[in-house]
Amino acid sequence: MKDITIDEAAKRELVQAAIKAARNAYAPYSGYRVGAALLCGGGDVYTGCNVENAAYPCGICAERTAAAKAVSEGNRDFRMIAVVGSSVEKCTPCGMCRQVLYEFAPDMTVLCADNSGEYDEVKLSDLLIRGFGASSLK
Ligand code: THU
Repeated sequence: MKDITIDEAAKRELVQAAIKAARNAYAPYSGYRVGAALLCGGGDVYTGCNVENAAYPCGICAERTAAAKAVSEGNRDFRMIAVVGSSVEKCTPCGMCRQVLYEFAPDMTVLCADNSGEYDEVKLSDLLIRGFGASSLK
């Protein structure tokens, strides 16, 4: 695990990266555009947006897009993720995204942001209490 400093400015920057990523959202069915920015050890940031499909269950959320990008690039050291939706409400990750993030970093931080960039900082382990992980299979 490489050490990185995540100060207030870095958090705001991560939220802005998520807002930018939401511009690429493909959400013709829900009209709800989501962006995510995943900060990993070493300082690399992987962004994602929701990508919907006419066959609704085939759509993917912004957070899982970002997580798949990071893992497929060889980075599983998740530290913090910012999530923003196209709404005045702060966006929290859906249950499936919580589970996917939990696989790699149960203690990571989640910044739940609204479309103006205001955010709440929460621990993933508080969003997914007693989550199911690899050790559960032993
Ligand atoms: N969505 C996300 O991208 N992330 C979440 O955590 C919440 C939901 C997307 C899925 C779908 O494209 C749209 O928002 C409406 O549910």
